[in-house]
Amino acid sequence: MRRLLFILPLLLIPACSLVPGTDAEREHYFLTEVKPVLQQHCLACHNGALPPPSLNLSSKATAFTRSPGGREYILPGDPCCSLLVSAIQRGGTHPKMMPRKDVSLTEDQIGMLREWIEDGAYWPEGEKGLLKPQKSRENP
Ligand code: HEC
Repeated sequence: MRRLLFILPLLLIPACSLVPGTDAEREHYFLTEVKPVLQQHCLACHNGALPPPSLNLSSKATAFTRSPGGREYILPGDPCCSLLVSAIQRGGTHPKMMPRKDVSLTEDQIGMLREWIEDGAYWPEGEKGLLKPQKSRENP
């Protein structure tokens, strides 16, 4: 049993190594991983003056809000209580509301967003933190 307790942390290390450590790394992760996915898959709807259901993902200030039911969309450190994660994991039904019905987030993209929230949901201030709808090859 004692041996198992010693081995356990070693088994957990590979899972954590994907998460960046410093703020510079977190910013890089946001800009290269998080921002493109949100811009290509979410901003078309979650944007502007009347976004559904009041979730506007175009800036940190508008994204870190609560739902009409009082739940956090993005709860830093806690993907399980973040409505954003619930929505994208809802049996794949939510992202399938995309303009093109055959488009959904991949398991990798869902995992990436979960990890980003688990690691504190770093979202830079200023220009870098502003999101705009963006077309992509998968979602033209
Ligand atoms: C085609 C338009 C559209 C796109 C694209 C879209 N959404 Fe939504 N979203 C909606 C609508 C409409 C609602 C309200 C109805 C609902 O909850 O399904 C909603 C609701 C939500 C909610 C609240 C869910 C709840 O349980 O209250 C979250 C969080 C959310 N979306 C996140 C996202 C994320 C993250 C993406 C990108 C991966 C995304 N949405 C892409 C239209 C869209």
